[in-house]
Amino acid sequence: MAPAIEVRDVSPEDAEAVVTLWREMAVGAGPQSRLLAAPTPQAAEATIRKHENDASGRLIVGEIEGRIGGMAYLRRTPVSPLHDEITVTVEYLHVSDHARRHGLGKALIAEAAAWAEHENCPHLAVVAPAVAREANRFLARLGLGQAGVLRFATTHTVRRRLAAEHAPNLLALLSSRRSVIARRAQLPRSPLVEEQSYGDAPYRESTVRESTVGENGYGEIRLPAEPESAGK
Ligand SMILES: CC(C)(COP(=O)(O)OP(=O)(O)OC[C@H]1O[C@@H](n2cnc3c(N)ncnc32)[C@H](O)[C@@H]1OP(=O)(O)O)[C@@H](O)C(=O)NCCC(=O)NCCS
Repeated sequence: MAPAIEVRDVSPEDAEAVVTLWREMAVGAGPQSRLLAAPTPQAAEATIRKHENDASGRLIVGEIEGRIGGMAYLRRTPVSPLHDEITVTVEYLHVSDHARRHGLGKALIAEAAAWAEHENCPHLAVVAPAVAREANRFLARLGLGQAGVLRFATTHTVRRRLAAEHAPNLLALLSSRRSVIARRAQLPRSPLVEEQSYGDAPYRESTVRESTVGENGYGEIRLPAEPESAGK
């Protein structure tokens, strides 16, 4: 006889069981997983209570012979910012090893499809990690094609990487400023001053030439003209 399967909404008393499912899911997703660390059963219970009356999301659990063996999180969201339709998205779909291949996975997806129909949602989406081959095969057989890749990181990580991308420019600027200051510091104390005149108007220009500067490839450095009264 086929085992009895039931799908229902989570209740706060299920907190420990769903945290166990979460831990299994993290192990199954591998060391590269970006899955959040499992919360404590107490924290999970408080969150379940908080969302009890949330009409836009449902955490459902699947029982096999009266024991919780799987879960899925269903969310109602606009399908796009330009379309009026709402879609149901299934996240964190997971069935325990001991409960697999008894129809629990299909029962969880069937509940999502029933809710989508009830809410007049023409589309259903399921999020699955790219590396979860079994889950992806299972979903593909149910008609779900791949629509995109969801990437995940902490806000802090993204901000740090963005800052790092700009850092080299800033460092280059600071380093070139430091070189200019160092070159100025090396200039001789009594530079050769040339006087030039343009037309009738006397025009004094101090041109500093220092042989070592030229040899270093920096060329000629021009400083502001000395005032007429200087040194007199
Ligand atoms: C994908 C997953 C949800 C499927 O759950 P499941 O409970 O085993 O799913 P079902 O039992 O409904 O279906 C699985 C297969 O068993 C078959 N099956 C169902 N009842 C059966 C029975 N009594 N006897 C034999 N086969 C059965 C189904 O027909 C199905 O076959 P198909 O894939 O060829 O269509 C589950 O394997 C899972 O959680 N995988 C891990 C997901 C994962 O990688 N997560 C990582 C982090 S998110």
